[in-house]
Amino acid sequence: MSAEQAAALIQNGDHVGMSGFTSSGYPKAVPPALARQIEAANAGGETFRIGVWTGASTAPELDGALAKVGGIELRLPYQSDPTCRARINAGDMEYIDIHLSHVAQFVWFGFLGKLNVALVEVAGVLEDGRLIAASSLGNNKTWLDLADKVILEVNSAHPLGLAGMHDIYYGTALPPHRRPIPVLHPSSRIGDAYLHVDPAKVVAIVETNEPDRNPTFTAPDQASERIAEHILDFIDHEVARGRLPRELLPIQSGVGNTANAVLSGLDKGPYKGLTAYTEVLQDGMLEMLKSGTLGFASSTALSLSDEGMREFLGNLDFYRERILLRPQEISNHPEVIRRLGVISMNGMIEADIYGNVNSTHLMGTRIMNGIGGSGDFARNAYLSIFMTASTAKNGAISCIVPMASHVDHTEHDVQVVVTEQGLADLRGLAPRQRAKVIIERCAHPSYRAALADYQERAQALARSGRAGLHTPHLLREALAWHERYEANGNMLPG
Ligand code: COA
Repeated sequence: MSAEQAAALIQNGDHVGMSGFTSSGYPKAVPPALARQIEAANAGGETFRIGVWTGASTAPELDGALAKVGGIELRLPYQSDPTCRARINAGDMEYIDIHLSHVAQFVWFGFLGKLNVALVEVAGVLEDGRLIAASSLGNNKTWLDLADKVILEVNSAHPLGLAGMHDIYYGTALPPHRRPIPVLHPSSRIGDAYLHVDPAKVVAIVETNEPDRNPTFTAPDQASERIAEHILDFIDHEVARGRLPRELLPIQSGVGNTANAVLSGLDKGPYKGLTAYTEVLQDGMLEMLKSGTLGFASSTALSLSDEGMREFLGNLDFYRERILLRPQEISNHPEVIRRLGVISMNGMIEADIYGNVNSTHLMGTRIMNGIGGSGDFARNAYLSIFMTASTAKNGAISCIVPMASHVDHTEHDVQVVVTEQGLADLRGLAPRQRAKVIIERCAHPSYRAALADYQERAQALARSGRAGLHTPHLLREALAWHERYEANGNMLPG
């Protein structure tokens, strides 16, 4: 049926589980049609709003279109759309930022209420009703299993050659009946190549022919290149010390240009036959597969630029042997990440001098995107690395602060902090030792003295008996840097 007819099957107040993970595999026709219907309903005095649950971020046709007409009551888990962000920060839309690996199980546990509709993009439908999944899997298996009604968008822009690249595990169960997830290597196949759906639940099939809206990567800036160099030196050092094998351990790399710069640095290095166990596969990994630096990559989504997609489609047989896409509850599964010993590298907004990391909030109150998979990986990784430029907004913001204005990753989950200034290896260091190396190695020179001064005065206060010396702080001043930025547009003291 048409997208309009399918959209009309979604009711005010429904929870809708949609496909989509970083601009790949999201439904492209029904959400804009739904947005038009919501706009018309709202113009007629109705308030029509739905709950939107996805894999992760999507694209302007989904998040942007629905947020623009005020059609989203509640959004989860990860988003990165500017209109959504503005609505959330204005208090017009509720947002629940949960770990990506938790979403499917929270729905199975019944924690989030009933899932009314699944709206899932697929590449094709087999004669026996099994589905060829598209360029991302996200939470699609769970949406199809648990929703009352299913709407499928069959997008012929996805090649049918994607068939066979998915590994969809149907063995998850609810506690206390859970069994080990048998992934022993990034290439382990443990599930089915196709998605299943009860045909009786399929209320609509909409045909589309629209490519994913793929992000373009800009050439890495100087800061990203310096960060990549520091990480590569660190990896060399770990190999030389015998703490990493020569083929390293599976890599997880977050989204964005810095992550891509690290990957291209690795590609130029001496390592061959590496593996990746990650949630997004960007252009950098495709290049590494092509050069042989990477032997195999497991992900939940392909997040390729147009150029990357052309390369992928042109050599589908080659990549089919080397890539597996899994549901995000498996790509981000703590048990598997811990077992494989993943090297996790993610971006952050700020870190404090003790190594607590903020990945989600600007100045403590405004959401940026969300925690995504960073927590799934950071807590369970063999090595958890967080990176950022040392300053933002032309130096008006220090990304190393006395106290993080919001904490997503506590000091207990953060082993390495890196900026273009240098890399702080926090393993085996107690809080005051951590502060020393973070300030000396990672802070920008224009903020270093002020951070050292804060730390010294906090220690002096503690020595006077008015605070503890374990993690010394000046509580009144700890967030003054952020307050100063909000008031004066600059964090620098004085
Ligand atoms: N305080 C306030 N604003 C800051 C800041 C800080 N300490 N550091 C950066 N910013 C601003 C930048 O100026 C920029 O603003 P603009 O959009 O107005 O230009 C914005 O925040 C993004 O900064 P940028 O350096 O471009 O970020 P990025 O692309 O490297 O992304 C995160 C960094 C943290 C937002 C991103 O990595 C993320 O969303 N992480 C959480 C999810 C995750 O880690 N997933 C990993 C598994 S895929």
